[in-house]
Amino acid sequence: MCPRPCASCLPGRSLMRAVVVTEYGGPEVLTLRDVPEPEPGPGEVSLTVAFAGVNFTDVRNRVGDGLGVVPFIPGVEVAGTVRQVGPGVEGLRPGQQVAALTRGHGYAEVVTAAAGLTVPLPENLIGKPASGSMFVTMQLGLFLLRQVARVLPGETVLLHGAAGGVGTVIGQLARHFGLRPLYGTVSDLAKAQFARQNGFAQVYEYGRFDTAVLAATGGRGVDVVLDPVGGQIRARSFEVLAPFGRLVTYSNISREPEVVPDANWMRARCVGYAGFSGGQLPQRAPELIRPSLLEATELIGAGVIDTGVTSVFPLARAADAHRQFEQRTAVGKFILAVS
Ligand SMILES: NC(=O)c1ccc[n+]([C@@H]2O[C@H](COP(=O)([O-])OP(=O)(O)OC[C@H]3O[C@@H](n4cnc5c(N)ncnc54)[C@H](OP(=O)(O)O)[C@@H]3O)[C@@H](O)[C@H]2O)c1
Repeated sequence: MCPRPCASCLPGRSLMRAVVVTEYGGPEVLTLRDVPEPEPGPGEVSLTVAFAGVNFTDVRNRVGDGLGVVPFIPGVEVAGTVRQVGPGVEGLRPGQQVAALTRGHGYAEVVTAAAGLTVPLPENLIGKPASGSMFVTMQLGLFLLRQVARVLPGETVLLHGAAGGVGTVIGQLARHFGLRPLYGTVSDLAKAQFARQNGFAQVYEYGRFDTAVLAATGGRGVDVVLDPVGGQIRARSFEVLAPFGRLVTYSNISREPEVVPDANWMRARCVGYAGFSGGQLPQRAPELIRPSLLEATELIGAGVIDTGVTSVFPLARAADAHRQFEQRTAVGKFILAVS
């Protein structure tokens, strides 16, 4: 992508507003620019974006710790209107209201998406900011609970970062699936009430979660730990796994060095270690993705799951959204209103 496009170097191509990361760094590197509108290739559609979800993966890409290669436009989940339909696309038409999981570039007025990862919006979600937050946290929650951790009714689960976007939907999904209420952690107990409203039974600060969880489970520990934090929190989390317990990593938000026990330790303790990456799965098993997007749309459209939108920022204030996200004061989900 040309970082400074102009009409003379792009004859015939319309320009759109987008938030561009031209160099890795803090929120200030998110810069509103005029860039060429993308056009859909075979099997793709282009969308006029109404809402784009803000996810921690966007922050990781911005700091150079993800898959984004500068210059790039961040943003992986959007809702909007189909603008153009590429060759070979069936079942989607211009003007249709949809949500999509994209390969990035969502903080923009126009984005392209694979038709297979573009889903019609239920009537009641059209024009709602929540429509821009349907896929990243929900897809993660559905896969973590069922395919990765394989949580059974009656099992106990501890999730770190309980009041964030992921915690918000996993708490509700656990309740919906009839699982036991979760244990969660937060950096400040002011966030605990928000997490409890979304399905967490007990919420602890990081400093004492291990002793609190062992006390709450009569010394047995938990069956599952869902951990995006990593580092020392992950190391301590292995110690609270019950026999046959599973620890699932889906991020290393702390950016601390990984501290993982060796296989002998895990064998002796009869515990396991698993991982999930929504960014990598589409390359390895694309057929698994669309069903999870359809299920997420159905659950959100039916009002079973609320993705917990707490702030809506204009596109031009994407940097403020990232700043608040990283300050760890916010709860729930942030959205950019684009057009
Ligand atoms: N693998 C996947 O496919 C996948 C998909 C979606 C998200 N994720 C990961 O899941 C995590 C949560 O994502 P999200 O979009 O829900 O973000 P979010 O809403 O900001 O939630 C992140 C939570 O992590 C906690 N946290 C712990 N240590 C932190 C740190 N050093 N810096 C900032 N926050 C920290 C924060 O709560 P406290 O301040 O209360 O600790 C915050 O509520 C992220 O790490 C993201 O990369 C992974």
